[in-house]
Amino acid sequence: MERSLVLIKPDAMQRGLAGTIISRLERRGLKIVAMKMLQMDKALAQRHYVVHQGKAFFNDLVDFITSSPIIAAVFEGEKAIEAVRQTMGTTDPVKASPGSIRGDFGLDIQQNLVHGSDSAESAEKEISLFFTPEEIFEHPKKTD
Ligand code: RTP
Ligand code: MG
Repeated sequence: MERSLVLIKPDAMQRGLAGTIISRLERRGLKIVAMKMLQMDKALAQRHYVVHQGKAFFNDLVDFITSSPIIAAVFEGEKAIEAVRQTMGTTDPVKASPGSIRGDFGLDIQQNLVHGSDSAESAEKEISLFFTPEEIFEHPKKTD
């Protein structure tokens, strides 16, 4: 069973799309095992996006992700990392497939609604930035 860190980004919060995004991931069969609302500060944003440090868009990205409250969640399931990424669509919403979250709701490469971990290694690091072990719930579904 894999886990992926999902962030509902500021643009999605402001457009009232949080429920839709969470619902699409749930309907895919992924299970919520942790969830909270928070406003990221600069330090957390810089740690979360450390792999992008030095890139041209880094400062804008940090400003954007800290600009308003977000929802952080952990979704669990078989191949959860790949399933979340596929449900989100590719980074640039213009190129994302219709039917994906970004393909259906976005146009802007930065304000692209949602984050999902891109590997098992990043998922582990990212989850520990946002959640303590006590905040993650083991709750088998009756169908598991
Ligand atoms: P994320 O990390 O948020 O799930 O997105 P991703 O893997 O699809 O894309 P990534 O390459 O990791 O980029 C992280 C976020 O940075 C913003 N970005 N802006 N202006 C630009 O060219 C540009 N490129 C990336 C996006 O918010 C992207 O999701
Ligand atoms: Mg990424």
